[in-house]
Amino acid sequence: MEIKSAKFDGLFTAEKGKRSILLTKSLTPGLRHFDEDLYENGTYRELSPRRSKLAAAVVKGLSQWLFRKDSVILYLGASHGYTVSFLSDICPEGIIFAIDSAPRVVRDLIFVCEQRRNIAPILADANKPETYQERIAQPDILYQDVAQKNQVEIFLKNMQLVRPGGFGMLALKARSVDITKKPELIFREARAELEKHTIVADYRILHPFEKDHAFFLCKKK
Ligand SMILES: C[S@@+](CC[C@H](N)C(=O)[O-])C[C@H]1O[C@@H](n2cnc3c(N)ncnc32)[C@H](O)[C@@H]1O
Repeated sequence: MEIKSAKFDGLFTAEKGKRSILLTKSLTPGLRHFDEDLYENGTYRELSPRRSKLAAAVVKGLSQWLFRKDSVILYLGASHGYTVSFLSDICPEGIIFAIDSAPRVVRDLIFVCEQRRNIAPILADANKPETYQERIAQPDILYQDVAQKNQVEIFLKNMQLVRPGGFGMLALKARSVDITKKPELIFREARAELEKHTIVADYRILHPFEKDHAFFLCKKK
């Protein structure tokens, strides 16, 4: 299989059968954290758009890529660490402050962090940035994937921690905001609210990888 650099730093592509796949170069060669496929003796790990909204946004044509090898990332809704583990490959000299409010998933996340030097797991509620603000470095990038009714409010609150000129990425799940409203309406309302406080630089619908999800890329004003 021929593995090529993708147009985005830290991402690679290859053809697998009839489809293109996304890969990262593993920080822990040979080690499989999830059930991801490994290539070239474990040097590369396959990042699935069906499991990661970031990967889904890339496949859906995300126009800008903000991650650098030394980026400082505040990640809200880290869960077991699937996407976080790939960001850890993409930003080997950076650090990811990986926050989740569920003790059960943070327990699993800690196992991933023990194998990787650039992830700091934090058990905290993303609604309360004041509880972790003193424990993190100033982020270049905020990444949020929490299925909560007030996702936009949480995002805007945490954007205040991001350095001037930094960016935020919001994976928005419409059904968590209001199950009775059409997703398109929720996306429109979310965008209007985000535009009051940030510059919305890109917007992607994540269908067919994720039902009723949109992905916003925002620049701090
Ligand atoms: C869809 S999962 C995230 C999947 C993960 N981002 C990935 O790509 O691998 C959503 C996570 O958000 C967490 N969550 C929900 N509400 C939260 C809150 N208020 N603060 C922090 N985490 C929260 C949940 O515990 C859950 O693990």
